[in-house]
Amino acid sequence: MLITGASSGIGRELARQLARRARTLVLVARREERLEALRDELLERNPTLGVLVERCDLAHPDDVDSLLDSLSRHLVRVDVLVNNAGLGDYSLYEQESWSHIHQMLQVNVTAPLLLTHRLLRHMVERKRGGILNISSGGARTFVPGLAVYAATKHFLDGFTESLRLELLGTGVVVTQVAPGPVDTEFSEVAGTRERVGGPPAWLRISAAQCAREAIDGFDRAAPLVYPGLAYRWMMHFSSLLPRGVLRAAGLPAAKQLRYGTSLLEPAHPDRGQHVLLAGGPE
Ligand SMILES: NC(=O)c1ccc[n+]([C@@H]2O[C@H](COP(=O)([O-])OP(=O)(O)OC[C@H]3O[C@@H](n4cnc5c(N)ncnc54)[C@H](OP(=O)(O)O)[C@@H]3O)[C@@H](O)[C@H]2O)c1
Repeated sequence: MLITGASSGIGRELARQLARRARTLVLVARREERLEALRDELLERNPTLGVLVERCDLAHPDDVDSLLDSLSRHLVRVDVLVNNAGLGDYSLYEQESWSHIHQMLQVNVTAPLLLTHRLLRHMVERKRGGILNISSGGARTFVPGLAVYAATKHFLDGFTESLRLELLGTGVVVTQVAPGPVDTEFSEVAGTRERVGGPPAWLRISAAQCAREAIDGFDRAAPLVYPGLAYRWMMHFSSLLPRGVLRAAGLPAAKQLRYGTSLLEPAHPDRGQHVLLAGGPE
């Protein structure tokens, strides 16, 4: 099993929980010392487990190629790929640096695609294994201030669902997990801690719960997992809403982000709100 983003948060918890049943775990991230600490912890609890630590910057496709070469050298065949690594950045799009945008595209989109492309063929040939993609609730809605992040997760949503259809009957499982707020370093990295109009605290779950429900969903070959009871109900309900309602739901955060005013204050200048509301559901 290979887990990207195993140095922190959901990925680290997935590694802890999958270690009980895996023969070999490949732990991938940039912070090697964290991966090594995790390897030691896992080996202490699971002495027969094989653990390979792979320092890899997923923003660089060359690094991904080196990772795959290393797997071949170590004769590791990956039967389960967990595309978990990801990052966001809370900012108005035009104020975002291109290098940061590019990094998000590489880590959130290109790396999962590339790894899936390189590892899937063997799974299909062996008629077993699977892909577990960690996307986000942002994949199912519109998130002002996180336009690029949300778009990368929309991409992963479309890719995962389409790939799942392609792979029906092959024995290869494809599951998407779309978490809501999870207690990890994500909001620190993305700068969303102080975000206005973000999800309420009662939707928040631990990384351990997220990992547990992700693995449970993968075991059931579920197409889409929303971890956390309250959040799951909210997402099932919101998936019934017309597109225009989802647009309107993003307005308070959008207005606060651009104009620094709440939706209740007199509109000034109201152009942004008007543009956001223009057009009905499609
Ligand atoms: N936490 C949430 O509220 C939440 C909600 C919805 C979806 N998600 C998704 O859940 C996944 C895991 O996030 P998390 O919440 O566990 O956040 P996290 O604690 O910040 O973990 C992110 C992981 O991604 C790795 N990563 C980031 N950039 C990388 C790069 N260039 N190369 C290699 N690895 C990289 C990090 O490792 P290094 O820094 O060591 O490289 C880290 O292990 C992400 O895809 C995120 O979009 C999280």
